[in-house]
Amino acid sequence: MRLAAFLSLAVAATATTSLTQDPFEQWHGPKAGDVRGPCPFLNTFANHGFLPRTGKYITYKDLADGLFNAVNFDANISQFLFDFAISTNPEPNSTWFSLDHLTRHNVLEHDASLSRIDAFHGHADIFNQETFDETRSYWGDVVNVESGAAAIVARINTCKAVNPTYSLSFLGEAFILGETAAYISILGDTESLTVEKKRVEYLFQKERLPTELGWKRPETPFTTDVLFQNLQKVGAEYAKQGNNSWSLFPNSTAPQRRSEGYAARLIGGHSRLLY
Ligand code: HEM
Ligand SMILES: [Mg+2]
Repeated sequence: MRLAAFLSLAVAATATTSLTQDPFEQWHGPKAGDVRGPCPFLNTFANHGFLPRTGKYITYKDLADGLFNAVNFDANISQFLFDFAISTNPEPNSTWFSLDHLTRHNVLEHDASLSRIDAFHGHADIFNQETFDETRSYWGDVVNVESGAAAIVARINTCKAVNPTYSLSFLGEAFILGETAAYISILGDTESLTVEKKRVEYLFQKERLPTELGWKRPETPFTTDVLFQNLQKVGAEYAKQGNNSWSLFPNSTAPQRRSEGYAARLIGGHSRLLY
């Protein structure tokens, strides 16, 4: 009897420990001295401890482990993103970045964000409810490629109208499209490219993974190929709605020849990363 009581206590204690150590359940907002940046997802991962909670000194290993554990990113896509990320560290040849480095305007951070104001108007790193309300007014209960692209086009038109310094580079435009492809894929269904609006609202507004809304870490690894395929679908709809000729492979007649087109321009000197 005593042994049974002891064993059940031991089992309960183990279950409690594993639950409390589960990073999906371990959410804490930033403490004084911690840093966050303009990417709602990286902020979220730091809030769960998938990335250093300080938001500082993030190495490739930190990023690769964090993105794998949180959202099943493969090592190549983490390397691809890491090389972009360290380009924002003002120290040349750095091997780490901090989340606030990402705020440097027009390195990766761009105008016409979905949930942040343009740098011209103030802090482009902090969530802004009014901006996000405009974005989500274009979404139905389920966000798809059409409504995701509609929100992008609307934000671009608004920012062009109110920001005299408005600009969007090729890289900025590619990031805008990739960001929409990424939130739909990671929070929703990467095949149908649909996601419940309330999951997206939850993550952007709370910077927390929406496990309490039924979201789970994707079972299929997310790769650069999947990102590019989905980015292309968002980009095609964006070009249609924005009435422009944006193309994933601007200099190439053969989409496979990525080295001549999108990827080469997107990754600049980092050509070793991809193909
Ligand atoms: C090392 C990895 C990553 C880097 C370096 C990065 C970088 C950035 C940067 C610089 C921005 C600000 C762009 C702007 O709106 O001005 C941003 C925004 C964003 N990122 Fe990330 N990101 C990373 C990972 C991710 C992941 C894994 C996801 C989703 C699964 C994601 C989704 C988004 C979204 C949706 C936005 C748009 C926010 C908005 O427009 O308000 N990012 N990211
Ligand atoms: Mg921005």
